[in-house]
Amino acid sequence: MPFLSDTLARVKPSPTIAVSNLAAELKAQGKDVIGLGAGEPDFDTPQNIKDAAVAAINAGKTKYTAVDGIAELKQAIVAKLKRDNDLDYTTAQVTVGTGGKQILYNALMATLNPGDEVIIPAPYWVSYPDMVLLAGGEPVFVEGPSQTGYKITADQLDAAITPKTKWLIFNSPSNPTGAGYTAAELKALTDVLLKHPHVWVMTDDMYEHLVYDDFEFATPAQVEPQLMDRTLTCNGVSKAYAMTGWRIGYAAGPEDLIKAMRKVQSQSTSNPCSISQWAAVEALNGPQDFLAPNNETFKRRRDLVVSMLNEAEGIDCPTPEGAFYVYPSIHGCIGKTSAAGTKIDTDETFAKALLEESGVAVVFGGAFGLSPAFRVSYATSDENLKEACTRIQDFCAALT
Ligand SMILES: Cc1ncc(COP(=O)(O)O)c(C=O)c1O
Repeated sequence: MPFLSDTLARVKPSPTIAVSNLAAELKAQGKDVIGLGAGEPDFDTPQNIKDAAVAAINAGKTKYTAVDGIAELKQAIVAKLKRDNDLDYTTAQVTVGTGGKQILYNALMATLNPGDEVIIPAPYWVSYPDMVLLAGGEPVFVEGPSQTGYKITADQLDAAITPKTKWLIFNSPSNPTGAGYTAAELKALTDVLLKHPHVWVMTDDMYEHLVYDDFEFATPAQVEPQLMDRTLTCNGVSKAYAMTGWRIGYAAGPEDLIKAMRKVQSQSTSNPCSISQWAAVEALNGPQDFLAPNNETFKRRRDLVVSMLNEAEGIDCPTPEGAFYVYPSIHGCIGKTSAAGTKIDTDETFAKALLEESGVAVVFGGAFGLSPAFRVSYATSDENLKEACTRIQDFCAALT
């Protein structure tokens, strides 16, 4: 009898973590490596949020809380969803977990039965398919190629829906591409969902506040209020508030679903960290004025990276609407050989050779379900980005 579960055998370890580990190993050997793999802002958590956490500690708010969040945080989330998204939820329709990741996991564990299908547009955030598999479901991929800005169309969505479809997981702006759907593009998708009343939508709005130029963020229940009773609106404080280590995510949706998610959490982790919850109250209720200057910085870096990567031979890099990632396609590099003699037959060999020969760590597109490409996180200094993009240009120029 095998010791490890069959369910776990269906799941692969996170490839983004594998890249970070290899980069760390090379650094430890004294190699000069620039990491473009990180999925978190390089800004510090704003001071008012840290102060709220210290105040919570000093006030003794250090004990168990209600399983899925303190009332004050749920109220702050209800207010945020009204203020930013024009969505009307009650606190009974809100749940708080240990990061956005746990929220998505709770929802899948609470709803999937063997054979249930979950539609995942590709390229996708690495954890979606594996979380679906862990929960016993079947991921169904729909590819949004670079030609459509890495977005899927209404016809593609319609064609992917079967009687077994339970969820569409929707993520805009996206990790790994930064692609953001306009309200009109999203409406075309929600129109399809209206035709299929058995399909629910789990929207991962984690990068909502990180949008550039004139792009306006939109979320499914906002563009199609008729979907309110089968939408789970997921979000968190990790990215916009530079709070990845604090581990607070949340969702709002129909009360029965929220109760079921709470049940999963009550028998696994119980409440998210009490101190982090008080910090998140301050993040959501406090001043939001640091967002604009942070976004200016991100936009400047995005423009720098897009223009430098487009100058590299064989690389084509679309300009994304948001998040802090770009997803250049490397069709023009496949089949070539690197200066050190590596045959570039996949984006994985490209990323490995780039790391070993030029000291730049990126994540290969295969990890996100759309090849040949790679993901760059531009949440690092302009100086690092310039040096990394110059190395990528030189690496590509040396391909024969
Ligand atoms: C699209 C997306 N959703 C969810 C998460 C998870 O967020 P958290 O750190 O709050 O668990 C991430 C983090 O990388 C992400 O990129």
